[in-house]
Amino acid sequence: MIIGPIKNKMLSARLQAVFDYVPKDAKVVDIGTDHAYLPIELVKSKKAKSVIAVDNLKSPLEVAEKNIKQEQLDRQIQCVLSDGLTKVNGDYDCLTIAGLGGNTIIEILEKAQNQLNNADNIIIQANNGIEQVRRYLVSIGYIISAEKLVYENDIYYEIMHFIKGSAEYSDLEYSYGPLLFKDPLLVEKIQEEIKHDTYILKKIPTTEVKKRAEFEAKIKQALDLIAKL
Ligand SMILES: C[S@@+](CC[C@H](N)C(=O)[O-])C[C@H]1O[C@@H](n2cnc3c(N)ncnc32)[C@H](O)[C@@H]1O
Repeated sequence: MIIGPIKNKMLSARLQAVFDYVPKDAKVVDIGTDHAYLPIELVKSKKAKSVIAVDNLKSPLEVAEKNIKQEQLDRQIQCVLSDGLTKVNGDYDCLTIAGLGGNTIIEILEKAQNQLNNADNIIIQANNGIEQVRRYLVSIGYIISAEKLVYENDIYYEIMHFIKGSAEYSDLEYSYGPLLFKDPLLVEKIQEEIKHDTYILKKIPTTEVKKRAEFEAKIKQALDLIAKL
């Protein structure tokens, strides 16, 4: 019998995709947990062996605690007020980081460099700076084992699953995602980007030659890529 991904009512399509990449029986730290929807579903579905829910702000962590208590999961999910992993002492082998900006994610991982030995899986959904996130993770010894696009609320989200390893990717792969070239949503996403960049280009004064050239090159690269997909 083939068992498909477990669907959860509580999770958005974006968080469901993060959930789907978490390996069975993982010991998870959810960094930037906010409402703790992901930890709750990971424990309720018995997908994760344990979950630590982390936030660096008191008020979201209070919301997390309230939601966890409502589900009577406060014995299973530990909430920790922490900047990334800095105050996390528990056992883990999987990090989930969703809904944060790329720079913040990189800062969190930079500060956690000595705590990543057992972090065999890192699942990331960055709101921006995705290329930089890919480059950073590869620079510290991870490869992209899976990634997908999710379209929700008029936004394309990239969900990436990193595992330990070494790989070389081209600039184009860092930019668009090495495993996304066959994703049915990639062409749509690039077309949206072209529309957006063309709009911006029209607003850039002709005197700003360098800036215009940058946008023109970006649009051309995107058009060339679409033609090949
Ligand atoms: C937009 S919410 C995302 C919530 C949830 N992960 C999701 O994807 O729906 C971002 C959360 O990350 C938290 N956060 C930001 N920087 C953080 C850091 N350095 N360490 C831990 N949490 C952080 C914020 O306080 C906020 O609650």
